[in-house]
Amino acid sequence: MVLKERTEKGMAMRTAGFRFLTSCSGCAVVFGAGCGQPSVERPAEARQVQGRTTLAMPSVTEVAPREYPGIHNAVAFHDGFVSGSAPEGDAGFATLAAMGVRTIISVDGAEPEAERAAAFGMRYIHLPIGYNGFDESRRLELARAARDARREGPVYIHCHHGKHRSAGAAAAIASSLGWLTPEQGVARMRISGTAPTYTGLYECAAAATVVKVSAIDAIPGDFPAVSRPSGFVQGMVEIDEAFEHLKLIEKAGWRPPPDHPDLVPPAEAGRLADHFRTLAAGEYARRKPAEFLRLMEESRAKAQQLEDLLASATPEAATLTPALKGIGASCTACHSEYRD
Ligand code: HEC
Repeated sequence: MVLKERTEKGMAMRTAGFRFLTSCSGCAVVFGAGCGQPSVERPAEARQVQGRTTLAMPSVTEVAPREYPGIHNAVAFHDGFVSGSAPEGDAGFATLAAMGVRTIISVDGAEPEAERAAAFGMRYIHLPIGYNGFDESRRLELARAARDARREGPVYIHCHHGKHRSAGAAAAIASSLGWLTPEQGVARMRISGTAPTYTGLYECAAAATVVKVSAIDAIPGDFPAVSRPSGFVQGMVEIDEAFEHLKLIEKAGWRPPPDHPDLVPPAEAGRLADHFRTLAAGEYARRKPAEFLRLMEESRAKAQQLEDLLASATPEAATLTPALKGIGASCTACHSEYRD
């Protein structure tokens, strides 16, 4: 969500360096048993269909995630149904368009780039889920959205990194629609790299049995392209962005990173502290136990400390890096107790 590339659309299409593959059935004929081994480089082949370059999607027989320009960790959960990372800039959307994707389903909290998707001829459906899984009504919504969208063409489902939430949702969808058994769905999640600590996601996938057509049809099918997340989730998305910026700043030797010259190091730390302060005062946090607020205050204090260090006359990496690590540890401390 951080590295939004601003490349020109046409340029991305020409320069992104796709690895062109035939469709997987063609692949089986041409390349034999190598088809199930995605790490092996294969001969490339490009096709032009209606003036548009096509790119083969990952297939359900593959046992490792695929990488594409602007799309990471792509894993198929059914023919024409792939889970992966949020598309990065024009390159990511160009990759999806070249795969023939018509619909992108986001289960991430961040607002999808619906306009950019539309510019590439695709539409968004935004159905955010948490790291601890989702309830039955969200499962039915996901199943309806994916079923209807798949009738129109290939579907891409993503969260942020494409490892945990999108894989959990994709597995539950595939089992709910009878595309995979729950066991196969769980096995695909492992290929996506869903961490074992996300037990809620694994439970949702393992418990997803086939849903009756009438139950899916009973769900209204007009899903939003963008659903506004709750104040707290939106705040976490912004916190995540500021934290990612600080990591880039650290990598650049605690200076504005070359590809983000606009970033002001102390301001990013200050932004982090501000968000923790605002969220601690909000409705969501006030309904949580005192320990939650204590962790929030601890994170705020650490971000404040980093801001002070960065704003000082002679900031030194020897103190800055441990301060940033300390903030990272405070994110994990709260997430492991209250999120995952
Ligand atoms: C005091 C607790 C707490 C701290 C500290 C905290 N978080 Fe969170 N965070 C949460 C909770 C709870 C959620 C889940 C919210 C939900 O889905 O309702 C969450 C969700 C998130 C999400 C997912 C948002 C989405 O798209 O759904 C991200 C990303 C995130 N946090 C990043 C961070 C980072 C980075 C830090 C540290 C710099 C951090 N958080 C510190 C409690 C915390």
